[in-house]
Amino acid sequence: MRDRPQGVPPTVEWSGTTLRIIDQRLLPHRLEAMTLTSCAEAADAIRNMAVRGAPAIGCVAAFGMALATLDLPDDRERAMELLERAAGVLKATRPTAVNLAHAVELALAEARLARSAAEIPGRVTAAARRLMESDVAANMEIGRLGAALLPERCSVLTHCNAGSLATAGYGTALGIVRTAYAQGKLTRVFADETRPRLQGLQLTAWELMQDGIPVTVIADNAAAALMRSGRVSAVVVGADRIAANGDAANKIGTYGVAILAKHHRVPFYVAAPTSTLDWAIADGDGIPIEERAPEEITGTGAGRVGPEGVEVWNPSFDVTPCELITAIVTENGVIETPSRAAMDAYRERTCRTVAGGDGVTGR
Ligand code: MRU
Repeated sequence: MRDRPQGVPPTVEWSGTTLRIIDQRLLPHRLEAMTLTSCAEAADAIRNMAVRGAPAIGCVAAFGMALATLDLPDDRERAMELLERAAGVLKATRPTAVNLAHAVELALAEARLARSAAEIPGRVTAAARRLMESDVAANMEIGRLGAALLPERCSVLTHCNAGSLATAGYGTALGIVRTAYAQGKLTRVFADETRPRLQGLQLTAWELMQDGIPVTVIADNAAAALMRSGRVSAVVVGADRIAANGDAANKIGTYGVAILAKHHRVPFYVAAPTSTLDWAIADGDGIPIEERAPEEITGTGAGRVGPEGVEVWNPSFDVTPCELITAIVTENGVIETPSRAAMDAYRERTCRTVAGGDGVTGR
């Protein structure tokens, strides 16, 4: 199994002085790269959703920090001051995916170890590279562990995009899909279109089609009927932040899918690297939920379709309570029936055996 899908170019590529990303806003119509040359441009790319998906955002934030080191002054203290400011700008771009904050903190911690300003760029860049490499490796392991949970001749339903475009590797939820497909056990993926930004229709469906994996898109509100028809063996989704009790935030609509899965006795799996775990937050109530512009609801690419000035509530994520989750699949193991106790046991086990098992990868 390759560590990147064949049909999709790398989501994030570092040249040494610039960062090349795929502009996800243009897909599926145009596959175009954009080149980021400054921390401000990296922050813009995250804020305006040119790059999406928690691990991919984390990688761009880490390299955003690397870009911020390219024109630092010689004075170490002043250099650190500027870098802390850059960290603040990056962290303020999007609040829900914790990978972003973890990546920025990782880069800052590395910079603090530098004895001179001249040492900072090399250290921060190396940390960003390690973070990206660890995400690729994490995807592979999540794919392997998750595919083992699926039955033969299965079909899965997924929500939003947790694929190659959302990570540095071949995806978390779609990593499981890709591995299961390569093993010959997966026959079809159903992709929720994922209103309002249509990540399922425009990103998930596109990237699976590039790899020749059979995919059927459904309107979000068709998920109940699809499950009732018996055509879904399992639901597999990604996550943006997982609290210490296993509650998992993911794209808005995920919670509803989890309730439907419970009702129809379909297993519901969350796939995420340890960089998505947030031990500092006790449960899902503490996860900050991004709210986005009303125009995402009232408008389409073709312009406004709703009444002008209508009031809108547009949370970008929701939280699936741990009791609806069959298992969380990370690169360090599978957490069955997540709960505070199961999460604590996982933490204890991974902290003892794995460097970076405490929620921050890349070291
Ligand atoms: O708003 P987005 O497109 O960044 O949201 C993406 C998601 O919700 C993904 O499902 C999540 O980040 C997991 S990515 C492996």
